[in-house]
Amino acid sequence: MDGGRVYLVGAGPGDPGLMTVRGLEVLRRADVVVYDRLVNPALLDEAPPGALRLFAGKRAGDHCLPQEEINARLIEQARRGRSVVRLKGGDPFVFGRGGEEALALAEAGIAFEVVPGVSAAVAAPAYAGIPVTHRGLSSSFAVVTGHEDPAKERADVDWGRLATAVDTLVVLMGAQSLPRIAAELVGHGRSPDTPVALIRWGTTEA
Ligand SMILES: C[S@@+](CC[C@H](N)C(=O)[O-])C[C@H]1O[C@@H](n2cnc3c(N)ncnc32)[C@H](O)[C@@H]1O
Repeated sequence: MDGGRVYLVGAGPGDPGLMTVRGLEVLRRADVVVYDRLVNPALLDEAPPGALRLFAGKRAGDHCLPQEEINARLIEQARRGRSVVRLKGGDPFVFGRGGEEALALAEAGIAFEVVPGVSAAVAAPAYAGIPVTHRGLSSSFAVVTGHEDPAKERADVDWGRLATAVDTLVVLMGAQSLPRIAAELVGHGRSPDTPVALIRWGTTEA
């Protein structure tokens, strides 16, 4: 094993104050930072001035760097003995492909650490005044992708079952599919009077 190490770090949902203490600690001594579009740029100033900053992209339908390329860069930099922070919006294991990166690092024999983050799935509603659970109103919640890989033969998200099985549904990446998702849910028994909030750039001043 080489001396380098990769940290899969959750940058939180946008407000820099929601990054974890452990995340900041590793960011402040990083040699390399590989970051995504959703990461608040202010956090990049926390890395040492001489640290290499690599933008990995990730806009819906426009991945600046393919996932394999990102994995390869993490491995290459760690093999050079560097401390690499892979900075991702929210939590790295909530629709962040952090699991895939962890697998690639494990297969390559690279030491890594996962630093969880505050997911937008709960923080964006919270800043908008919406608790995802509330006594007497909601005793369960689920976080669901609204954007499944179109290449898949069969959809994994079962909107029919989710419609009535869960109290609060948090849909990430759902803007484009909103009419279809709403129709699926109501068609499978969700009340059409269900309150809905649409939150964009939650926890930020955008
Ligand atoms: C690829 S997912 C990554 C989620 C992230 N790993 C997390 O835990 O928050 C990106 C999607 O999460 C949602 N999202 C992320 N940050 C958000 C924010 N600050 N406000 C509202 N939605 C956000 C949007 O739907 C966005 O397209």
